[in-house]
Amino acid sequence: MSDRFTGKVALVVGGANADESRLLGFAGLSALAIARSGGKVVIADIDDEAGQRSVARMKTEGLAATYVHLDVTVEADWQSAVATTMTAHAQLDIMIMAAGIPDRGETIESTSVDSWRRVMDVTNLGMFLGTRSVVDPMRKSGGGSIVLISSMMARVVRDQANAYATSRAGMTHFARSAAVQYGPDNIRVNCVLPGWTLTPFTSGAFNEEWMERLAKRVPLGRVADASDIAGPILFLASDDAKYVTGSELLADGGVTGWIGPLD
Ligand SMILES: NC(=O)c1ccc[n+]([C@@H]2O[C@H](COP(=O)([O-])OP(=O)(O)OC[C@H]3O[C@@H](n4cnc5c(N)ncnc54)[C@H](O)[C@@H]3O)[C@@H](O)[C@H]2O)c1
Repeated sequence: MSDRFTGKVALVVGGANADESRLLGFAGLSALAIARSGGKVVIADIDDEAGQRSVARMKTEGLAATYVHLDVTVEADWQSAVATTMTAHAQLDIMIMAAGIPDRGETIESTSVDSWRRVMDVTNLGMFLGTRSVVDPMRKSGGGSIVLISSMMARVVRDQANAYATSRAGMTHFARSAAVQYGPDNIRVNCVLPGWTLTPFTSGAFNEEWMERLAKRVPLGRVADASDIAGPILFLASDDAKYVTGSELLADGGVTGWIGPLD
């Protein structure tokens, strides 16, 4: 077992899918990896069943993990998750914000105002409330790392899912702004931009045939799995990235750099 995260406390939001006997989410896998590398982890999500199951399994391994309910659009939930973390561990060093909801198949005209607001709220209000809830405890811990999970859709667009792409692009700009504000407190703020990844978030849409079609658009020739994205998340969360802030780490297998096959 590595000791990469020994002495660190991480709040992993949207990390409920951390049970290895099922399909992992990449925040879930990051939580598991931090705990296995000596860190203490608080997983927060709205999916209480998955979150509690993941934590129960991690505890059977002797890992330091707790689950708290947190809806990222509710400021009181953030405050209570941070309070739980501080009561249990008296410090907070890492916050990974991966909560997200899909926005598939809607054009600008057919997107309802409610649907637009919901996507924006979970992503953009969520990152805003989350960042302002964790910076004070991080400051008191001598600094910290905030990793916001954006998407390659921050860089490219489709003819649909406008709210999703717009919210993810907003996230990268927010990260730069927060990085500037909190640099003097030694709090780093970065984004990971994942490409197509098989996780609980996509498993409904990513059947075998669709994954084969997607893979043809990926220079690395395959759709990602949770480990392909957890690596970049863990890098930014860790002291290996101690001089990295305000950055966007693209983990898309090369998709957004390619104009696509010509046939
Ligand atoms: N899988 C992909 O292809 C892909 C690509 C780019 C970006 N993303 C983004 O990465 C993030 C992580 O997704 P994943 O693919 O690991 O799947 P995942 O399903 O494991 O993670 C998303 C989590 O967000 C939680 N969530 C949803 N609304 C919430 C809310 N209001 N408050 C708190 N938690 C909430 C869900 O319960 C779920 O556990 C998501 O934001 C997703 O949009 C995914």
